[in-house]
This record gives sequence, C-alpha cells and structure tokens, in this order.
Amino acid sequence: MGSAVAVVRYAQHGAILVVTIDNAPVNALGAEVRRGLVDAIAAAEAAPGVAAVLIVGAGRNFIGGADIREFGKPPVAPLLPDVCQRIEACSKPVIAAIHGVALGGGLEVALAAHYRLALGGAKLGLPEVLLGLLPGAGGTQRAPRLIGAQAALDMMLTGRQLGAAEARALGLVDKLGVDAADPLEQGLAYAAELVAAHAPARRTRDADRLADVAASQAAIDAARSSTAKQARGLFSPLKIIDAVQGALDLPFDQGMALERALFVQCLDSPQRAGLVHAFFAEREVVKAPETRVAQPRPIASIGIVGGGTMGAGITVAALDAGLPVTMIEVDAAALARGRALVEKVYDGQVAKGRMTAAAKATTMARYTGSTAYDALAQVDLVIEAVFEDMAVKQAVFAQLDRVCKPGAVLATNTSYLDIDQIAASTTRPADVVGLHFFSPANIMKLLEIVVPERTAPEVVATAFALAKLLRKTPVRAGVCDGFIGNRILAVYRTAADHMLEDGASPYQIDAAVRAFGYPMGPYQMSDLAGGDIGWATRKRRAPTRDPRARYVQIADRLCERGWFGQKTGRGYYLYADGARSGTPDPEVAAIVDAERQRAGVRARSFTDDEIMRRYMAAMINEGANVVHEGIALRPLDVDVTFVHGYGFPRYRGGPMHYADTIGLDQVLADIRTFAQDDPVFWNASPLLVELVERGENFASLNQA
Ligand code: 3HC
Ligand code: NAI
Repeated sequence: MGSAVAVVRYAQHGAILVVTIDNAPVNALGAEVRRGLVDAIAAAEAAPGVAAVLIVGAGRNFIGGADIREFGKPPVAPLLPDVCQRIEACSKPVIAAIHGVALGGGLEVALAAHYRLALGGAKLGLPEVLLGLLPGAGGTQRAPRLIGAQAALDMMLTGRQLGAAEARALGLVDKLGVDAADPLEQGLAYAAELVAAHAPARRTRDADRLADVAASQAAIDAARSSTAKQARGLFSPLKIIDAVQGALDLPFDQGMALERALFVQCLDSPQRAGLVHAFFAEREVVKAPETRVAQPRPIASIGIVGGGTMGAGITVAALDAGLPVTMIEVDAAALARGRALVEKVYDGQVAKGRMTAAAKATTMARYTGSTAYDALAQVDLVIEAVFEDMAVKQAVFAQLDRVCKPGAVLATNTSYLDIDQIAASTTRPADVVGLHFFSPANIMKLLEIVVPERTAPEVVATAFALAKLLRKTPVRAGVCDGFIGNRILAVYRTAADHMLEDGASPYQIDAAVRAFGYPMGPYQMSDLAGGDIGWATRKRRAPTRDPRARYVQIADRLCERGWFGQKTGRGYYLYADGARSGTPDPEVAAIVDAERQRAGVRARSFTDDEIMRRYMAAMINEGANVVHEGIALRPLDVDVTFVHGYGFPRYRGGPMHYADTIGLDQVLADIRTFAQDDPVFWNASPLLVELVERGENFASLNQA
C-alpha cells in the first residue's frame, strides 16, 4: 500500500501503517498535508492487515503547526479540527512519535492520536497566543482533559515550549524516547509494544483531568484575573480562557464548536494580522542582500573598546554566546569599573537563582581586560563603544588599524555619527561596519547593522552571523543621522514636543502612548535613557537646524537644571529616593507653562486620539522617508526595528504595517491637515504620496 501524495506518505511496516509527513521546511499542516492525513487514516481503517498507525515527521521536526501562510485566506477543507477528529475516531490505535518540535496544530495532531512518544530533545508547545490565536484544532479541549486546566492554561497563555521530560511529567506524552535517535525506529518499537498488549484506541476526549471541577474552576479563575492584569490589550488570551471554561462546562463536541467560534474571532482580528506580520518580518530581515552573496568570516573571539553602559552590556551578550571577550579601557580604574558592570549583571542572575556561582565563574573566565590595544591583535571582530565623539572614535580606530590582524572586522556602536567618516580614517574601510546595539545590550533584541559605502559584503555577512550567535534580531540600515530607529524617533519625539508646548502634558502624552500598547511613553523613555544624551545631540545639530523649523526648548530647560531623569532623581517626572517609576512634577508643569508664554503659544487641549494620530503620522512619514532613501531596505525593516528596539506593540505589527491597517490615504490626509499650521514639520514623504496615488500600501514593497 502507498500513496502518490508527496507531503504525506504512508506505507505498511508489518502490522503498522507508518504515516510520514514530509512538507519542508517544518512539516506545516497545509491543505495538502491535511488531505493526506485523512487519506492515510482511511487507508488504515480499510486495510485488514493494519493493527495500528504511527505518525512521524520527516526531517528535523514532527510538525511546526498550522501553515501560517494560509491565515487570512479562505479556509480549504478538510479543516484541521476535522482532521484531528478523524484521527481520534480511528478504530485502530494511532501513535505519534515526536522529535524536534510539535507546536500548535502539530501538538494538536499528537493530542488527537491515542498514544504519544517524545524523543529526548523534543519541544512541545501551543504557541498560538504569540500569533494572536488560540489552539484551534482541539487543543483548548483536549489539553485540559489530558493534563488539567492549570497546566494547559499555562502552556496556552505563555506559548512556551516544554521539553520532553516536562511533557512526560505532566502526562502530555506517554513515553520518553532517546534523544537524537531515529523517531521511526523508536515509534515502531513503541507501536509494536502497544499492539502486543492489545492497547485500545484510547481517546483524549475521554481523559478525566478536569474531573475535579472545583480545582479546575479555581485554575480558570486565577488565570482570568492575572490575564486581565497582564494581557495589556491583547485579544486572544481571554478567548483562550473562555475556551477552557467551555472544556469544563460543555460536552466535548460543543466545546469544539465553541473553540472554533472563538478561533475564528481571533483569526479575523487585526492583532492576528499584526503578529503574523511580525513573525514573517523577523524571518525576512535576516535575508539582507549581502548574506545571499557572501560568506561570513569566522568569529571565535571578540574585542570591546569601552567598558561603559554599552560596552559592558555587549560584553555580557558575547560572553553569554560563549565567546571570549577582551575589553579595552583607558586606565586601570575605568577597566575595573567596566569589569564590575559586567559582573553586576551576573551577580543579579545569581541572586535571583537564575545562574550558579560556578556558572558565573566559567563565564567570567572568558573575559579578559586590558588597557593596551595590543591585546586585540588576534581577535576576529572588535566593537567600539567609547564616548559619542568623532575625534575620540577616530583615535580609537587609528589604534585598531594599527594592532588588529588583517581581516578583523572593525565595528562601531555609534548612535548617530557618520560611519563613512570613521571608516575613512582607517586604511581598511572595507572592514568597517556599524553594529548599533540597544540598551541594555544584553537584553534588547534589536541590532542595527549599519553599512557604510565601502564595506565589503562578507563583512556585512559576518555582522549578520554575529547577530545570530548573539541571538539578536538584525536589521540592515544605511548611513544617515540616527540610522533607521533613532532618526525616526527624533521626528515623532519632535511631534510630541510640539503637542507638549501646544497644551498637552508629558503625562497625558505618555498615558496615550501606553494606552496604544507601548510599555512606556516618550517622556518616561527619555527619563530612563537620560536627558543628557538627547541634549548633546540637539547641541550638535543646532548649527545645521533649519531656521524655519519650530524648536521647542522645554527639554533644554530641564537639562540646564541638571534634571536628566532617573539617574539624577528628576526629569519630566520626580523619582523620590531612587524610585524607578516617577510621579508627575508640578515644577515641570510650571516650566512648560513658562515656555508656552515665552513662545507665545496659547495652550489648547488634546484628546488622546489626536495625540496618537499626530505621533503615529510623524513616525509613519519619517518611516516612509527612510525607505524612500534606501536607509531601510523595506517597510518591514522599519517594523522590526520598532517592535524590537523601541517598544512598539508587537500586535500592531510595526508602524508601517499599522499604517496599512488604517489606510495610507488617511495618514496622508492627516499630515496635510496638520501641515496647515506647520508646513515645515509636516512635509509629506514622496513615497507616501506616491503610494497613495497608485492605490498601493507599504506591504506591496515588502514582497520584492
Ligand atoms: N507555517 C508556515 N511556515 C512556517 C511555519 C508555519 N507554521 N513555521 C515556520 N515556517 C517557515 C518560516 O517562515 C521559515 O520560512 P523561510 O525559510 O521562508 O523564512 C521556515 O519555515 C523556517 O522557520 P525558522 O527560520 O523559524 O526555522 P527554525 O528552525 O528556527 O524554527 C520553528 C522552526 C520552531 C517551527 C519556528 O519556525 C516556529 O516557531 N514556527 C511557528 C510555530 C507556530 O507558531 N505554530 C503554531 C501555528 S498556529 C496553529 O497551529 C493554529 C492551530 O491551532 C489551528
Ligand atoms: P559610557 O559613557 O557609559 O561609556 C563610554 C566608555 O568608554 C567609558 O567607560 C570610557 O571610559 C570609555 N572610553 C572613552 N574613551 C576611550 C578610549 N579611547 N579607549 C577605551 N575606552 C574609552 O557611554 P555609553 O552609553 O556606553 O555609550 C557608548 C557608545 O554607545 C556611544 O557611541 C553611544 O552613542 C552608543 N550607544 C549608546 C546607547 C545608550 O543607550 N547609552 C545606545 C546605543 C549606542
């Protein structure tokens, strides 16, 4: 017996019908796979010589889930819940042998099977929530029946992946296999065991872990109250809880119908579209043109120049990736401070029980400090993170040029400075690249890879390889003042400052931005980062500022008083006794009032909606400019930058995706309205105008 369908094959091994899902890259459950599974079960039922069915995945995984590319398109029968129903209804025992990942619909297929074997390295999870969904193929009904409401809710609300041992302990799987061995061989052995024991087709729908109704209800109630507090505007978590409530209250088939209805609500939500956009965008950004044509150079060791906030954070990121790091500082005292900053991160982890003292010692053994540049003679890649000053950076690069071996990559973490100019000061500009990390560098995922004119493609490819090693999300950027992220930030922050002077308070603006889904608003952010950084940038830019441009001086008034934010105890907010969250400051309100008077502005009121329209229009317009000028390769690169580096709510996909959801014509109309009062600031991007004229959206530029 056999089948011609390539993505699902089935063949008899003795009395076992082996069904192999072979749909690279991750065996996603597209329409053809679903049809193939139904056919295979029918074949098993029809063949008298088949005593049991074994489902395995070809390649590195069991099944990565439903085919995410099908979401938003018309559904094609058979639907996955029906396929799972068919598997569960099979009169002969069905066994799933899981290796690699069984995620989402992949785990739901396994839950519909009657017995589950997981190899040692397997990862099992229901990550639908991360895509704005809920498990829609019986997961919300079968998982609670099998492992109880609390454990099932934890899996579904966090989306986390469980290791095989944990899955076994919870009862999610029946048997543990050996890691890295052949899933087919182990699956066949387990199936033979079950057949020999006359094991029945044991259905998960009949499992009884919800039998203790009071305990189950308590778990649901607890999840509901903590989710209401933490979900921050997310739609699907509460739907997951509703579905589990259905599992407790309703007969199985009615529970399935409820799950389907809730799943469709999630599928149709803009949040699902935003989260799926973010998922694919994150996988697109790593495919920069240079990574297709050039091989990365090997990176076995790293040098870091400067042991301040950023240098220390980058050092931790590199040490965590297993790389040896050599840190250079100006003198012994500065070097001791740099090392102490690195150790402080690990001491914090040890104190929280996330790391053992022995592991810290092993990690720190990869760290070397020096005040002599010659210590960098053999490193493969150096990241400069000294003061943001062109003369200082050029002096550092002159030293690197002198000591580094040929082929070493020379990177700068500058936030704003012209990297072409830094590169030009060396004899090897082809080896110079920008690696713009975000603070705290050991935590923030974004890494802007800034590519000056003369950089060799293999150096760019090496930068992307480094990002992968450090588990960062890289975005390719061109050279300009602020690259992608900080350049756009400067513009929407200016829009916020205009509103501040025109009558909104910093606290109202921050609250509106938080209500939109950000973890904090721009003035909280400024207080956290330190107002002095922006002040230095404004002073640097003052000579080249357009004299016609409106310039709000409120931030300067605060900085002149030394109010730089959290680190000085006050900024836009007051931070009593080193508190990390601030309270509104009446003196700031008085300064703002005085500045309004000085500027001859009569304060007016703003609605939160108007604040967000202006804030987002400014962000989107500059995003369009950045794409138009080729600083970002595509709109999706802007989206990933903002989701991973600036706290933009992931469920809105990123500013450019968000612009598409509200309509570019609407954004342009807003900009033209705002321009009536300030045509210098509100200058519509040529790309935005062009797209509106052509009736296109930003997504159309992501496809190229
Ligand atoms: N559907 C379609 N394509 C998928 C996919 C899926 N479920 N999962 C991954 N892919 C694609 C990726 O887009 C990528 O494509 P590309 O090469 O063209 O860029 C390719 O597969 C490889 O993906 P990764 O680069 O992420 O490969 P890794 O090996 O690092 O990771 C993975 C593999 C762990 C499976 C990871 O891709 C992943 O987490 N995927 C998503 C899993 C998921 O969310 N599943 C649930 C889907 S929703 C669902 O099942 C609904 C159901 O309840 C009804
Ligand atoms: P920092 O002031 O905390 O640290 C700078 C360190 O460089 C100091 O420890 C100083 O002793 C050292 N240093 C100065 N000159 C040196 C030299 N010639 N050789 C060796 N060490 C030298 O500054 P921070 O915040 O770490 O910033 C460093 C760079 O990173 C700057 O270019 C900044 O623009 C950039 N950056 C900063 C971010 C932030 O949020 N702080 C974010 C992203 C980039």
